[in-house]
Amino acid sequence: MDTKRISYEIVDKVAHIGFGHNCKKSMTVLDEETLQELDRIVEELKANKKSIDAALFFTHKERCFLAGADITLIAAMKTEADGAEGSESGQTIFNKVEDLPFPTIALVHGVCLGGGTEFSLSCNTILMSDDKSSVMGLPEVKLGLIPGFGGTYRMPKRVGLPNSLDLILSGRSVKARKAKKMGLVDEVYPKERLVEMSTRHYKKSKKKQSFTDSLSDFAQDNFLSRKVIFQKARENVLKKTKGFYQAPLKILDTMEAGMMKGRSSYLSAEAQTFGELCVSAQSKNLQHIFFMTEKVKKYSGPQSTGDIPKLKKGACLGAGTMGGGIAWLMSDNGMAPIMKDLNVGALELGLKQASSNYQGALKRRKLSSEDFERKMRSISAQTDFSGFEKVDLLIEAIVEDLKIKQTVFADTEKKMRDDALITSNTSSLSVEEMSKALEKPERFAGLHFFNPVHRMPLVEIITHSKVAPETVEALYNWVLKTKKTPVVVKDGPGFLVNRILMPYLNEAGYLLEEGVSMKEIDEACVNFGMPMGPCRLLDEVGIDVAVKVAKILHDGLGDRAKSSGLSKKMVDMDCLGKKNSKGFYLYDSAGKETGANEKVQSLFTKSKVMSETEIQMRVILPMINEASIILDEKLVAGPEDVDLGLIFGIGFPPFRGGLLRYADSEGLDRIYKAIEKYSESVDFDRYQPSMFLKDLVSNKKKFYDL
Ligand SMILES: NC(=O)c1ccc[n+]([C@@H]2O[C@H](COP(=O)([O-])OP(=O)(O)OC[C@H]3O[C@@H](n4cnc5c(N)ncnc54)[C@H](O)[C@@H]3O)[C@@H](O)[C@H]2O)c1
Repeated sequence: MDTKRISYEIVDKVAHIGFGHNCKKSMTVLDEETLQELDRIVEELKANKKSIDAALFFTHKERCFLAGADITLIAAMKTEADGAEGSESGQTIFNKVEDLPFPTIALVHGVCLGGGTEFSLSCNTILMSDDKSSVMGLPEVKLGLIPGFGGTYRMPKRVGLPNSLDLILSGRSVKARKAKKMGLVDEVYPKERLVEMSTRHYKKSKKKQSFTDSLSDFAQDNFLSRKVIFQKARENVLKKTKGFYQAPLKILDTMEAGMMKGRSSYLSAEAQTFGELCVSAQSKNLQHIFFMTEKVKKYSGPQSTGDIPKLKKGACLGAGTMGGGIAWLMSDNGMAPIMKDLNVGALELGLKQASSNYQGALKRRKLSSEDFERKMRSISAQTDFSGFEKVDLLIEAIVEDLKIKQTVFADTEKKMRDDALITSNTSSLSVEEMSKALEKPERFAGLHFFNPVHRMPLVEIITHSKVAPETVEALYNWVLKTKKTPVVVKDGPGFLVNRILMPYLNEAGYLLEEGVSMKEIDEACVNFGMPMGPCRLLDEVGIDVAVKVAKILHDGLGDRAKSSGLSKKMVDMDCLGKKNSKGFYLYDSAGKETGANEKVQSLFTKSKVMSETEIQMRVILPMINEASIILDEKLVAGPEDVDLGLIFGIGFPPFRGGLLRYADSEGLDRIYKAIEKYSESVDFDRYQPSMFLKDLVSNKKKFYDL
C-alpha cells in the first residue's frame, strides 16, 4: 500500500511506516488526513499482527519527523467540546499504537515536537538521530495549551515526574544527547544507521507496560516526594509567570489529579483540559502570535525586480554598546566582520562585548571553545578602512549625531563597492536625512537593533523615499537569517517601537508630578504584564538618553509628545539611571537595585491615591492612540507589525496578544471614550483621540478588520 502521506510496506515481517511521504512541504504536521491515514495503517497492523514482528516509524523528510498537530485546526476550534473531541481522537490513535502486540519503534530524525513527541511516546522504543536538526519536546504550553494527545500521561512514565514537568511546563525542546540523558530516547545513532540499529532493539524489546497500567505504580513509589514536586513546580510557575498564564497551572492540576488514575480516565481529563484551554482568550492570543511570527518569516513587502544582494561579509562602524553586539551577531552568522572604531581602546571594549555575548552559549555547551575562538578570531578589529571593498553589509553604530553620521557615510561609501549595502543603527535620527549624504541612497536603510543585541529579538528596518526594494528584501532576509524578527517601518520620529513607548514613559513623569507614588506606578504596569514599570525602564534606558529622544519626538510629533520636566531635572541632579547607579532607584556596584532614590522622591510634594486600573489606563491608552496614528500614516503594513514590534521590542505581555489585539478585545468604543475623557480631564494634547480611531469606532470596526 502506498498512501498519500504515509508510506507503508512490510519487509521481512517488519512494517516500515514513513511519515512525510509524497508531500512537498519541508515539515510534516499531524493534520486530519495524516491522522486518519495513520489510524488506517494502525488498524491494518493490528489485523495482521500474527505476521508482523515489529513496526518502525521513520521519516522521508530531510529535517522533520513530525512537527506536531496542525495549529490551524486548533485555531478553528470554537467550543470546549470541539477541543476535547479533537484531543480524544488523537489519543485514541496513539492508544492503538501503544496497544499493538509487537514492538514499535520511532526513529526520530529532525523536528519532533508536540503531537510528534506524543506519538513517539506511544511507541515502545525511541531511537533518535544525532543530527543537529533533531529535537524533541512538548511546546504546547507556549500556545496556552496542554499537550492533548496523551503527552502528559506518557512523558512522566518515560522520564520521571521532575523531568517531565520541566519539559511540559517550559515547552523547551531537547537535542539528542540531552534526550538520551533524561531517558526520553533509548539510543542515539547517526541518521543513516537508525533503521539498521532498530533491528537490535526490537529483537530484545518487550512491551514495557500494558494499557491497563496507570501512573499509579510510579506515583505510589514516590508518594511523599510527589506532593513536594508538584508544590515546588507550582511555586516556580507562579514565580516565572507572575500568575499571568493559566495553562501551566491547569497542566499541573490535571497531572496531579490524574496520578492515580488509569489510562482512559486520565486521558479523558487531559482532553477536557485541552478543550477548556484551546478556546480560552489567552490561548487564542498566543495562537495569534504564533501565526504572526510564522507570517513574518516570509518577506511580503514591495516586489524586487533586480537581483537581491547577497550579504556575506559584514562590517560595523563603532565598537560601543551596540557595535560590539553587532560584531558578535555578524561573527556568529559567519560574516567575518570588520569592526572599525576611532581608537584601540574602544575596539578592545567592543571585542570584550562580543566575547561576553558568547559566554552564555559556551556555559550551556551550545558552543565549543574551538568554535568560540574561531568566531572571535573572525572579527577584524581595526581603525582603518582596509578590506572595506570586500564588505557586503555595513552597519553604522557610532555617536547619535546627524552631521557626524552624514560625514562618515559620505566618506565610507567611497571605500565600499557600489553594490554593498550601508545601514544605520540610529535610534532616533531621520533616515531620510541621512540618505541625502550618500551617492547611492537606494542602497541605504536604517537597521535598528535594540539593546542588548544578543537578547533583543526585534530589528526595525527603516525605509526612506529612495530606498530600493532589493535593499529592503535583502535586509529582511538577512535579519531572518540571524534568527531575529524584522519589521519594516517608514522613516518617522522614533520609528515604530520607541514612538509607541514614548507615552508609556512620559505619562509616568506626569503621574509622579500629580502625586502618584513611583512604587504604585511601576507595580501597576508590572501587574498589567509589562516586564518592568516605566520608572524602572527609564533607569535602564538612561535618563539622559530619554531626554534626548523625548526632544526629538516632541519636535517631530508636536505637543501630544511633550514630556514632563522631570527627566531634565534628574539629569541636572546627575541622576542618569542605572549607568551611574542613580536614577529613580539606586543601584549597587553590581547593578542590583537597592531601593528608591530619596533625592528624586523629594521632588514630589503632593500625594495622590489612584487605582491600579486607572494608572494602567493612563499609560496604555495613549500608546493605543499613538499606534492608531502610526497606522493612519501607513508607517507599517498593518496592526500585526505594531503588535509584533511591541511584543518583541519592549516585551508587551504576549498573553494579551499585542497592544492592538488587546484594544480590540476591550472594545474600541470604550477605548475611544476613555481617551476622550482623559483629553478633557487630564491634558487636551496628550490624550487627543486620533481621527483614525474615531473612524474605526464610528464604522464599528476593529484594528484587526483592517
Ligand atoms: N545604546 C543603545 O541602547 C542603543 C540602542 C539602539 C540604537 N542605538 C544607536 O546605536 C548607535 C551607537 O550607540 P552606542 O550606544 O553603541 O554608542 P557608544 O557611545 O557606546 O559607541 C559609539 C562608538 O562609536 C565610536 N565612533 C565615533 N565616531 C566614529 C567614527 N567616525 N568611526 C568609527 N567609530 C566611531 C566611538 O568611539 C564609540 O566607541 C547610535 O546611533 C545609537 O542611537 C543605541
